[in-house]
Amino acid sequence: MTAKIIYGKEVANKIKEEVKSKVLMLEKKPALTVILVGENAASKVYVNNKHKMCKKLGIKSDIVVLPEDTTQAFLLDLIKKLNNDKNISGILVQLPLPKHIAEEAVINTVHPLKDVDCFHPENIGLMFAGQPRFLPCTPAGVMEILKFTGVNLSGMNAVIIGRSNIVGKPQAILLLEKHATVTIVHSRTKNIASIVKNADLLVSAVGIKHFVRAEMVKEGVIVIDVGINRIKEKLYGDVDFDEVVKKASYLTPVPGGVGVMTIAVLMQNTLKAYELQQTHNI
Ligand code: GUN
Repeated sequence: MTAKIIYGKEVANKIKEEVKSKVLMLEKKPALTVILVGENAASKVYVNNKHKMCKKLGIKSDIVVLPEDTTQAFLLDLIKKLNNDKNISGILVQLPLPKHIAEEAVINTVHPLKDVDCFHPENIGLMFAGQPRFLPCTPAGVMEILKFTGVNLSGMNAVIIGRSNIVGKPQAILLLEKHATVTIVHSRTKNIASIVKNADLLVSAVGIKHFVRAEMVKEGVIVIDVGINRIKEKLYGDVDFDEVVKKASYLTPVPGGVGVMTIAVLMQNTLKAYELQQTHNI
């Protein structure tokens, strides 16, 4: 079998066009503020990509770049100011943060109605309860890719590699909503290989180049590669693409797969944040 390759661009374009046309109709435009603390090279690329996409869709966007030695108190203060600024629809603090800043404190300080990442416990809780306000960008992007395949996920053995708050955990909830049987495997899981081998759908978010090899997967598996592993300026996924492509039914490339979807969902969330502020008058 040779996999159908799913390019995120095709799926993302439709979402982006929808956001663009809705934004065009608005008198006042949504506005996203992205905060970048420190010198992480990958984060700089992601933040610039988010900024460019906002521009393309008519969303106002600001990047606030802060030095590595920014104090937690200063960062929290800035977030509180943005929370109270009626002209700001969405706030995104790029992760990872320098070690002296507690991620949890930052996530909990962003106003839940401006939390376009869907990282705040209130928004995670709403999603968990099946009453989502925002959707987490990368996992929701994966769901859009799966919707694009037209495959029915009901009853599928879905295996997620990685249990992060950004991808693995929320991905499990979204797949469960679609009636998949979900297993998360992680660094302490015994016998990962045998669990992965049983997967009808595999979502890999482990962050190790070519962790998923052809002999680990079942013939006909759907493979979504969320990994972005930067080695000497070149990007690799978690999946050994050239080998797994011969066995899977669908496969996403890196780059060109999930990454663009993350940004597309972020744009949807920013528009949603704008709309929520209109109705809640904050
Ligand atoms: N770092 C890696 N992915 C993300 C993301 O989706 N949002 C933020 N804020 N930081 C990230």
